[in-house]
Amino acid sequence: MDSLLTQLHFSTGEISDLDEMMVIEHASFSRPWTEGMMLAELFNNPVAFSMVVRAGEDEKIVAQVFMRLMLDELHLLNLGVHPRWRRHGLGTQLIQHVLKTAIEKGTERVILEVRASNEAAQGLYQKMGFRQIGLRKNYYCKPTENALLLGCTLEDIQAFSETETKQEIENQGKIKINACNIINTP
Ligand SMILES: CC(C)(COP(=O)(O)OP(=O)(O)OC[C@H]1O[C@@H](n2cnc3c(N)ncnc32)[C@H](O)[C@@H]1OP(=O)(O)O)[C@@H](O)C(=O)NCCC(=O)NCCS
Repeated sequence: MDSLLTQLHFSTGEISDLDEMMVIEHASFSRPWTEGMMLAELFNNPVAFSMVVRAGEDEKIVAQVFMRLMLDELHLLNLGVHPRWRRHGLGTQLIQHVLKTAIEKGTERVILEVRASNEAAQGLYQKMGFRQIGLRKNYYCKPTENALLLGCTLEDIQAFSETETKQEIENQGKIKINACNIINTP
């Protein structure tokens, strides 16, 4: 692994991070969020939060994710890794970190949408135990495309399959593992 990636720091996104976040956003999506959208999401939405990963001596942001936590359901909205650092396990580590935090907050299931053609992201989510639970027709534009609705319960999350972590969480009685009960969209 590149030495830059041996020391990663996870933190919530701040207003001062916006410029760096916009760079990753624009490098990641054909229809990127605007600065206004990010600000509104982060600071005017009580159920929204973000997490960034910093690396290297200069602590540059190398990955980020925006989410909404509603009751016991976490909705991953927007995940991006800096193009220079893709395929180094950062997306995996960020999602693992998010899921750990989400469990502490009482999350029981996680959902997200992904472009039908986005094999990279689908590969990542599949490895982490997500599975398709629905389809949202013409959800995306630029280009118009269906979204696969993916979901997982805590049980599905392979990132937490290390017996120690799972056992520790179950013992704490913080979570209740149920079968996925998310209703498929039409
Ligand atoms: C999707 C994305 C977040 C993945 O981040 P990443 O840090 O490169 O992912 P990881 O290195 O943790 O890869 C984990 C797994 O995902 C899959 N994967 C990641 N990139 C892939 C690619 N280019 N092609 C095929 N599979 C890929 C692989 O299964 C990989 O495991 P492996 O390396 O053992 O084969 C990144 O490519 C990205 O930012 N893309 C643009 C924005 C985006 O599509 N976001 C998701 C929106 S739903």
